[in-house]
Amino acid sequence: MAEIRKVGVVGLGTMGAGIAQVCVEAGVDTLGREISGELAERARGRIDHFLGRKVEKGQLAQEAKDAAMARLSLTTELADFADCDLVIEAAFEDLTVKHELFRELSAVVRLDAILATNTSALSVTEIAAAAVHPERVVGMHFFNPAPLMALVEIVRAQQTEASVVETAYAFAQRLGKEPIRCNDTPGFVVNRILIPLLNDCVRVLDEAGVTPEDLDKAMRFGAGWPMGPCTLVDLVGLDVHVHASEALWQSLREPRMAAPPRIVGMADAGYLGRKTGRGFYEYEA
Ligand code: 3HC
Repeated sequence: MAEIRKVGVVGLGTMGAGIAQVCVEAGVDTLGREISGELAERARGRIDHFLGRKVEKGQLAQEAKDAAMARLSLTTELADFADCDLVIEAAFEDLTVKHELFRELSAVVRLDAILATNTSALSVTEIAAAAVHPERVVGMHFFNPAPLMALVEIVRAQQTEASVVETAYAFAQRLGKEPIRCNDTPGFVVNRILIPLLNDCVRVLDEAGVTPEDLDKAMRFGAGWPMGPCTLVDLVGLDVHVHASEALWQSLREPRMAAPPRIVGMADAGYLGRKTGRGFYEYEA
């Protein structure tokens, strides 16, 4: 099995920065790419903040944090991924954007490198189709917040070679995660179940005339959820949730998959949850 010594992460938003954090904490040299130096530095700041909190809480030694930060390098150039053994793409959820990236990445990386996508709603098979070697493309679907959530879905596209699935699986284990293998079906495993469930929760808000606070309380104390559905949608991002709902609705046509108008309206208004300071709840900047 190919050894993964250096990882590239394309896109350092919430998910990409979280994945890069997990990699450097696990001792892996990691190169992160953003479209501007400013966005890349913002991601470094975010990782530095979360590792700093671990030091403050006595969960991580200062030297271990410094060593992890030293393993992180940043770039704005895809060409710099030439020596990466694995590149994980966590860019904007748009097939055209991903196709462009996979075409460019294919031209840059070694023939034996693995290209992974963290897509949550698009077809890995369709993304892989743009790569020169689609058999080297696999889904590695992390969950938000990536440093805290143990699951990684290792998604085999139609074209993925079995050895690539196994290398991605073993790498997720090396990151301290709990991977599972699954087919490239809409929503894979968790989102196929969670997205319609969260849509139901939002519909219940109006049907039962309940406040977001009380709905969250209901699911935490009545169903044992670690956080309530409104808090969770705010964490995931209303735009991400609506996009994932649309993708499931497009492929499966089940009414529960479609995002409720209430949440679409909020997303259209720019109330995207934690990242914009307002969703079901308000957040400090
Ligand atoms: N990145 C890195 N570190 C983070 C972080 C982040 N995004 N968010 C929080 N942390 C760190 C913080 O430093 C925090 O400590 P601090 O508050 O003292 O600074 C530390 O983690 C612990 O945070 P919490 O005290 O909030 O941890 P909890 O014990 O409350 O657990 C949780 C938090 C694990 C998020 C838990 O509430 C949970 O499991 N929630 C459900 C999340 C979930 O379902 N996610 C899946 C969403 S679906 C998805 O991602 C799929 C996608 O395709 C849409």
